[in-house]
Amino acid sequence: MNNLHFIGGGQMAEAIIRALLTNEVYIKEQISVYDVNASRCELLQTKYHIHSTTSPTEKLASADLIVLAVRPQDDIETICQTIKEESSKEATVVSIVAGVTIKKLASYLDSNRSIIRVIPNTLTDTGLGYSGVALNQFATKEQTASFLNGFGKVEYIDESLIDIFTGYGVAGPNYVYYFIESLADAGVLAGLPREQAWKIALENTAGAVAMLQHTQLHPRQLLDINNSPAGVGINALYELNNSDFAAGLQRSVLKAVKRTTELGGE
Ligand SMILES: NC(=O)c1ccc[n+]([C@@H]2O[C@H](COP(=O)([O-])OP(=O)(O)OC[C@H]3O[C@@H](n4cnc5c(N)ncnc54)[C@H](OP(=O)(O)O)[C@@H]3O)[C@@H](O)[C@H]2O)c1
Repeated sequence: MNNLHFIGGGQMAEAIIRALLTNEVYIKEQISVYDVNASRCELLQTKYHIHSTTSPTEKLASADLIVLAVRPQDDIETICQTIKEESSKEATVVSIVAGVTIKKLASYLDSNRSIIRVIPNTLTDTGLGYSGVALNQFATKEQTASFLNGFGKVEYIDESLIDIFTGYGVAGPNYVYYFIESLADAGVLAGLPREQAWKIALENTAGAVAMLQHTQLHPRQLLDINNSPAGVGINALYELNNSDFAAGLQRSVLKAVKRTTELGGE
C-alpha cells in the first residue's frame, strides 16, 4: 500500500486516477492531487473523493510515488526543486510530461532519485493499450508495476525510442479510429444504412484482431485463405494495392513521430 501524489490534475491525470480507482489498484485515501487551478482541484475531489490541494508542498512528504502530470511548458524546474526539498528521498518520481528527458529531470532532482518516464496510453478506461516506460539506473520495475498496470499494459523501452513509441503506439488508436470511420463510409457509399455499416465495421475490426490472436497466423496467411481465385477479396485487394493506403498510413506514423520530436525540442 503506498501513497500516490499527482502534480498537475489535468485530463491525463484524471484519466489515470479514474482507471486506478475503477480497477481498485488504489483506494481514494491513497491518492492526492496538487494543481494550481482551484477549479480542477474541486472537480477531482468532488468526482473521485480524493484529496486535492492548491499547496505545492502538502502531501509531498508522505508520497511514495510522485506523478508529474503538468504540461511541458509549465515550470518543471521549480516543481522538481520542491520535490527535492519536501519529499522523501525514497519516493519515486514518475513523469508523464511529453518531451522532458530523464537527464533533464535528474538535473533538477536529487542525484540518486528513482525516475521513471512514462508515455501513457490513452485507452485508460478500457484496460487495453500500452504505455511506454523508461527507467533511470535507480528505478526498478517493481516500484511502479501495479500503478502502471492499473491503467493499461506496459512496454519497457529504451528512452531513445520514446518519440517513436508516442507517434506509433500512443497515437495508435487515432489511426484505427480513422480506419473504422473510413470503412463505415465505404459501407454507406455502397448502399448500406449508416447504423448497419457502423456496426459491421466495428465487429469486423474486433473480429479480425481476435482472429489474428486466435490463429497466430500472419495477416497475409488469413488473406490467402479469404482470397479465392478471381474472387471478391482479391479484386478488392487489387484496388487497395493500387492506392496509397499502406504508404499513406506509414507516412502518417512517421509524421507523428517527427512532430513528437519537434514538440519535445520547443
Ligand atoms: N492528454 C493526453 O492524451 C496525454 C497523453 C500522453 C501524455 N500526456 C502528457 O501529460 C501531461 C499532462 O497533459 P494533460 O492533457 O493532462 O494537460 P492539462 O489537462 O493541461 O493538465 C495540466 C494541469 O496542470 C496544471 N498546472 C500547470 N502548472 C502547474 C504547476 N506548476 N503545479 C501544479 N499544477 C500545474 C494546469 O493548470 P492550468 O491549466 O491552470 O495551468 C492543468 O490543470 C502533459 O505533459 C502531456 O504531454 C498527455
